[in-house]
This record gives sequence, C-alpha cells and structure tokens, in this order.
Amino acid sequence: MVIAPIPVDLPSTLPAIKWGLRKYFLSNLEEHEQIRRKKSEGAALEWSDYKSMAFTQCVVNETLRIANIIGGIFRRTMTDINVKGYTIPKGWKVFASFRGVHLDHEYFKDARTFNPWRWQNNSGAPCPANVFTPFGGGQRLCPGYELARVELSVFLHHLVNRFSWTPAEEDKLVFFPTTRTQKRYPINVQRRDRLQGM
Ligand code: HEM
Repeated sequence: MVIAPIPVDLPSTLPAIKWGLRKYFLSNLEEHEQIRRKKSEGAALEWSDYKSMAFTQCVVNETLRIANIIGGIFRRTMTDINVKGYTIPKGWKVFASFRGVHLDHEYFKDARTFNPWRWQNNSGAPCPANVFTPFGGGQRLCPGYELARVELSVFLHHLVNRFSWTPAEEDKLVFFPTTRTQKRYPINVQRRDRLQGM
C-alpha cells in the first residue's frame, strides 16, 4: 500500500481545540481548578498534571471523534483486494473514512451528540476498540498523537482557568461536509480573575 501525503501537525490540532470549548467542558472545571490550586503562581504544568486530567481526556476523545480535521486516509491497492465480496482492483485509490465510522450509530450511541461522558469507564457504554482511529493506526500511526493530546489538554487547562465566555450569537452545528459551527462559534470572553477575584 502507498501513503498519500496529508497535511498534519499543529494546524490539525487547532480545529479540535475549538471544538473542545463546548459548554460540556465548562461544567467540568474541577480537575483543572484542583491542579491550579496545588501549584504556585506561574509554575509550569508537569507530566503528572497532564496525566491527572482524566475528564479532559474524555473531552479530547469526543472532540476528535466528532470533529477531527482528518476525515480519513488515502491508500492505493498494490494487489487485488477482496472486501466483503467486492473486489478492489490493483492500483485503485481508496479512501478509508474515519469519519464514517466515528459518526456511525452502530458504534457510538447518538453519534452526533457531543457526549464526553461516553468515554468514562463507568459510563456503561462499551468503548469500541479499533473503531476510534483519529490518529490512524498500524505502521503509519501518527507519531504526534501524544503531543497533539498534550497540546489540547494544556491549552484547555489555561483557557478554562483563566477565561470564561458566553456565546455571542446563536449558532448551529452542521455535519456536512465536515463538522463545524455555521458561524464559527463567536463568543464573548472575560478573564476569570476579574470575574471572581481569583
Ligand atoms: C489532532 C492532531 C492530529 C491528528 C488528528 C493527526 C492525524 C494523523 C493521521 C490520521 C495520520 C496517519 C496518516 C496515514 O495513515 O496516512 C498522521 C500521520 C502523521 N502525523 Fe499526525 N495528527 C495530528 C497531529 C500531529 C502532530 C502534532 C504531529 C507532529 C508534531 C504529527 C505528525 C505526523 C506525521 C509525521 C505523520 C506521518 C507518519 C507516517 O507516515 O509514518 N501529527 N497523523
């Protein structure tokens, strides 16, 4: 199989960050406030802090499931391939759609609903193996996957600890051709220390 080049790196992280700002996350500030309280002013985050952001990992997963910028990957068949009775001839280009699987109700209940709690072990919902592949898999698994998750988590940590925001306008979620908010989710931002005397 041959890999088609796709744009990866930081720009692919940014739309995911935007999605992680949904209101569901705002109601779960606690783990970030705990980390902030135990650190002195200006102290850098450490690996153990990142590892203690358990719910944030659920938010990151759900963000990548619903709104990953990479909808799938291209491959070219090097030989005739049989898939469920269909033959894909040698030399054809194939697009393996992650998005098609990530938004499939068969694998994710209410697949179009942003529900980070579905990733919690005790949520009662099975966490499907091999169907959640925002970073690809196998030999070409994204080498930046942990860095991307750290970037998202650290950004969200500082954002939710320092700022508060409200939607500036009614907005609407659309799923075609990609998941996005129609008006780019305009918000009014305020510093939290000014709001709460933090
Ligand atoms: C949310 C952020 C990211 C997503 C969703 C993502 C997704 C992916 C996916 C799906 C692939 C596999 C492509 C394929 O199989 O054809 C890939 C490959 C790759 N990614 Fe990422 N990526 C992200 C962030 C990053 C970052 C931060 C870096 C580096 C700092 C990075 C570096 C790479 C490289 C070098 C490859 C090619 C690996 C190879 O071909 O062996 N990615 N990425």
